[in-house]
Amino acid sequence: MPDKKNTHPTNTTKDKGEVTPTVALVCAMGSIHSLFFKTLHTHWNAKGSRFLAVHEFTEKQYGSLLLELDNLAERLRALDTIAPTDMETLTQASILREDHLDVYDASKLCRHLADSHTNVSNTYENFIKKLGDEHPVSADLFTQLAAHHEKVAWMYKSLID
Ligand SMILES: [Fe+2]
Repeated sequence: MPDKKNTHPTNTTKDKGEVTPTVALVCAMGSIHSLFFKTLHTHWNAKGSRFLAVHEFTEKQYGSLLLELDNLAERLRALDTIAPTDMETLTQASILREDHLDVYDASKLCRHLADSHTNVSNTYENFIKKLGDEHPVSADLFTQLAAHHEKVAWMYKSLID
């Protein structure tokens, strides 16, 4: 749950369980920011027989996550909302926790990233349902991204020994 001290305008409705496009986009930005660093952790620190395949795959993935973060931020700007860049807001908005930092085994990290991508995909599907017909452009963006995260989850699962 967001801290009450957080004054970012898009966090004001999150406590009430309402999902507006801006709340959904900030939550997505926080989650992708977190997933970006989880992916880098694997890229840099993974160990095991699949190291090279995992190292190369995660390089593509962190590039893709940076593009997604940019798309989410620019959608927020199109809705006339400031895109958050401070760590506190992004960390609080993320659905993902920092529970991977003492894991180095490549297969375990691929499992963790597969689960994280699945969590993001499920969250986006929930946003699509809640935004519905009232916000078709934002719902459409999340539809495309949910499918992408499902696919990436499958790819990580395929890298597990
Ligand atoms: Fe690298």
